[in-house]
Amino acid sequence: MAQTKMAVYPGSFDPITNGHIDLVKRTLQVFDRVIVAIATNPNKDNSLFTVKERLEMIREVFNRPGNRVRADSFEGLLVDYAERVGASVIIRGLRAVSDFEYEFQMAMMNRGLKPKLETLFMMTGESYFYISSHLVKEIVSLGGDVSSLVPNNVLKKLKEKFKGSMPNG
Ligand code: PNS
Repeated sequence: MAQTKMAVYPGSFDPITNGHIDLVKRTLQVFDRVIVAIATNPNKDNSLFTVKERLEMIREVFNRPGNRVRADSFEGLLVDYAERVGASVIIRGLRAVSDFEYEFQMAMMNRGLKPKLETLFMMTGESYFYISSHLVKEIVSLGGDVSSLVPNNVLKKLKEKFKGSMPNG
């Protein structure tokens, strides 16, 4: 039987954006399965959403019959997690040149830790080049419209989080 090709797509996903979703779809053209894995660090957590909330939002997005995407969270090293779940590839998205240095450094560190685990970079679609979870949160907190940047379920959750603190709401 042919071996299932599985990739891990790690990140903070605080929250998941249309850019992340685009990348998952691209990954599924190459791999049979993708685990969208939220990295957690209890000692260094300044996330807006709890891990449970972030998992729920990702699951809502990919919740359709026969879906090949799983949402999960992990603590500790990414390379150990990837080994545990049987993934041989880590997927990371590259938007602009500015992402490169940080991504290159992480990929090299991970390679040093587990030489057999490959990091594969996928280019985000042109329409998503400028999206980041960080900016999405800032825009919502200041009353801006991010409806074209995140899926509807995430938009709703963002508005709930910032209710009362938004200039016009
Ligand atoms: O979306 P982000 O926040 O840029 O993702 C960074 C992430 C989660 C991929 C990175 O911080 C990570 O891999 N964390 C898990 C802990 C780990 O393995 N650290 C060493 C990385 S070289």
